[in-house]
Amino acid sequence: MKYWLGIDIGTGGSRALLVKADGTVACGVTAAHEDILMHRPLWAEQRPEDWWSAACQATREVVAKAGVRGDEIAGIGLSGQMHGLTLLDSSDEVVRPALIWCDQRSQDQVDWINAKVGAATVLEQTANPVLTGFTAPKLLWVRDHDPESYDRTRRMLLPKDYIRFCLTGEYVSEVSDASGTALFDVVGRRWATPLIDSLGIDSSILPEVVESPALAGRVSALAAEKTGLVQGTPVVGGGGDQAASAVGNGIVESGLVSCTIGTSGVVFSHLDEAAYDPDGRVHTFCHAVPGKWHVMGVTQGAGLSLQWFRNHLATSLAAEAAERGSDIYDLLTNEAAQVPAGSEGLLWLPYLMGERTPHLDPFARGGWIGLTAKHTRAHLVRSILEGVAYSLNDCLAIIESLGAEVAAVRGSGGGAKSAVWRRILAGVFRKPIATLQTQEGSAYGAALLALVGTGEYGSVEEACRSVIVEQGREDPDPSLQSVYEDGYHTFRAAYPALRGLFPQM
Ligand code: XUL
Repeated sequence: MKYWLGIDIGTGGSRALLVKADGTVACGVTAAHEDILMHRPLWAEQRPEDWWSAACQATREVVAKAGVRGDEIAGIGLSGQMHGLTLLDSSDEVVRPALIWCDQRSQDQVDWINAKVGAATVLEQTANPVLTGFTAPKLLWVRDHDPESYDRTRRMLLPKDYIRFCLTGEYVSEVSDASGTALFDVVGRRWATPLIDSLGIDSSILPEVVESPALAGRVSALAAEKTGLVQGTPVVGGGGDQAASAVGNGIVESGLVSCTIGTSGVVFSHLDEAAYDPDGRVHTFCHAVPGKWHVMGVTQGAGLSLQWFRNHLATSLAAEAAERGSDIYDLLTNEAAQVPAGSEGLLWLPYLMGERTPHLDPFARGGWIGLTAKHTRAHLVRSILEGVAYSLNDCLAIIESLGAEVAAVRGSGGGAKSAVWRRILAGVFRKPIATLQTQEGSAYGAALLALVGTGEYGSVEEACRSVIVEQGREDPDPSLQSVYEDGYHTFRAAYPALRGLFPQM
């Protein structure tokens, strides 16, 4: 029997997923990552070596659990958290912990880039404004604050591409992930060399870039030993986690939109032609479908909001859940379902790591507004689910304003596994939330890219048409429409009212 392996390097953990030629999932295993290192508010780092050991562990375990031989794996696809800065020295050692996607420390470097080359030039050459979340200002932060590491740097890789390097020894990226570096010509699908030169960045540190299903290395003997894979197994380009997740959700043709709630939250729409928001509130990046693009809005603290609540305000419940073998998130969201929609006036701002869409504000801060003595833990949790949905509605509204016709939204990621959260999303979006038979998102998309890259399907679109099936649908409840409209109205008013305070905090 032949299998294809998708490996997704997420924020919380790395997932290895085995898929058969007809798209059915044989087995999946996730290995957790160490906690994000947060030395200061709004800083976020992870150790790339930890991603690699989690990826090895997940791969070894999935192969063992499925009872599959390494030589039955016909191809591998990679996906991963985007924008993370992984630096290697001349001996290919990791130079310092990676500044990851949600790290917000680089506003001075964003300002420096805009002053040096002009914001209009950046937009012209990369199709997006430069943001603190993107990779280039992170690299320049290292130049300015950790010059020793900068001087030692010989290679810059994105998280999944570091895993590719560990697997194959090749320095290769692909167009969807490279789009999030602020150094990539998204329309031309190649490095933005004039911009890179103007910023004084040595382009020899950048990897070669291929299209997502293209062959991009083969498993080395050393990696085969560590993972249980077989030397020579082909590894395709893969995708940034959002583009890969979109492939896994079948968002590869116009008119289809997904909403993924992982640590971040993303509303994603396919584009046949590159088109961008002149205000840069949503990103236009290359899709993992050759010759296609996508637009997406990002909520920085989506699943992160609930995870933060679990870690810091529900520790005893989490311990109880672990003892009883129940899922803490099920307990919390079931509690949330017991209080009325609108959380009786309690509102959550999910800006725990600043915000991207629509505010583009690294200084934004999270918090509850409207707390009274009547509110309980259930209200706190429900307001988090609703606040994240309001923020994702900001993303959807901009995508619709760019001309996307959205009849329904496909829900995916850990958050969308909750029926309570899906019902809230349907209510706030005023659209049905569809769920798919296979809800594996990024790792599944990565495996599908490997199926295409090894010739099992003729194109990404063909693969998606053959294997992706909608299974369920949550319709908006008309009786709740005005509650969510009022809630969203208050949510929209809260940020402008508070914006002036955030930089002082
Ligand atoms: C996308 C983004 C996040 C990360 C982590 O622009 O920053 O979705 O990829 O999932």
